[in-house]
Amino acid sequence: MQKRANHLIAIKAFTRQSLPIPVPSGTSWESAVKTLLEKWEDERTGYLSVRSPISFETLFERSRQQKGIFPLIAEERAAVKSFAYYPSLGILQIRDAKGVILGYRFKIPPHLLTTLNNSSQTLNSYEAGTSRGGGRDRLRLGPRGLYETRHYAVWADYSKKYVESQELLEDGEKGREWLRENQELFDYCSNQLRFLCPEQYVRLTGSVVKDMAKTQNADGARKLRPLGGAWHEACLNQGMDSKSGSRCHQDWLDDKRLFNCVAPFGEGFEGGELVLWQMKMRIGLEIGDGFFFYGSLVAHEVMDITTGVRNSIDLFTHASNFELLAKHEKAAANKVKHLVKEKLRATRKKEERRKVEENAGARSKIQQGKKLRQSAACLMKNKSGM
Ligand SMILES: [Fe+2]
Repeated sequence: MQKRANHLIAIKAFTRQSLPIPVPSGTSWESAVKTLLEKWEDERTGYLSVRSPISFETLFERSRQQKGIFPLIAEERAAVKSFAYYPSLGILQIRDAKGVILGYRFKIPPHLLTTLNNSSQTLNSYEAGTSRGGGRDRLRLGPRGLYETRHYAVWADYSKKYVESQELLEDGEKGREWLRENQELFDYCSNQLRFLCPEQYVRLTGSVVKDMAKTQNADGARKLRPLGGAWHEACLNQGMDSKSGSRCHQDWLDDKRLFNCVAPFGEGFEGGELVLWQMKMRIGLEIGDGFFFYGSLVAHEVMDITTGVRNSIDLFTHASNFELLAKHEKAAANKVKHLVKEKLRATRKKEERRKVEENAGARSKIQQGKKLRQSAACLMKNKSGM
């Protein structure tokens, strides 16, 4: 446990400033990290660990193929029945043969879901076929199915800089209030990731966040920052019912090395298991469950809702933010390179100037010597001629 706590500190998943609790008096912040890790491990004692029939490496390799092409198995609709089913009975960890975690189901405290449910009801609902705010119709039969969806995001897909999503700008203060009200939930899910896959947490919250903060939002009122806890984007899906249907999809724009986090909520529903096609699994997700998986690598869909209404949040991060960070880092490195080159050039020029001056001085001394020798010789000549 100490080794793991040391690792969390070494990679800066925890720092003195980012500790989620005040340091108890008489202890160091480092030992507080170990206590938090022990508490997290205690809470998940007895979790079910299962093996995925496909590895992360294979999923990653296959995701390089053209976007929009689903794995062949997703065309065999009846195959779902033969998939391994994991009902919502507790914490579940899915690993591949090399031990890489491909999925993780955890429990979310009920009060956070109550807040999520209440706050989501205060957002306006859209009518089918009507437009609102910026004129966008968000009740639509999209690639994922027919239900209402909002993306509150900071991304760089549609611009050369980080920008907030149009849907957040349209919802304005109401949307920001929803984000504020659910901050505790986002932080809770982020902390699960922080212990489970700390490298992912560090990737999400490190340099990219500092780079993002250099950009102001559209009205210049605030610096941009991630909106879903550690994740940069939060999607709210509402009103999935027995008529909605669901479609197999892959979240092609999401970063391939990061989990997204889904959590259903609402007044109650039945059905709605999450199908992970290449992993040949059906994951039971009920209200109170959160689930990490690679939405960008695995074709997935929500099975039919048999009764009730399923709402959900999805915390995710687009790859475009890291691509923009890489561009900025490259430009900064080039600038440093250019400055170093300029400095070297200036030093070289100064040295050349100094040498020219030295040479000129030496030349003038030689000339003077020559003149002195000539006049001395002349004097000697005149004397001898006398
Ligand atoms: Fe998805």
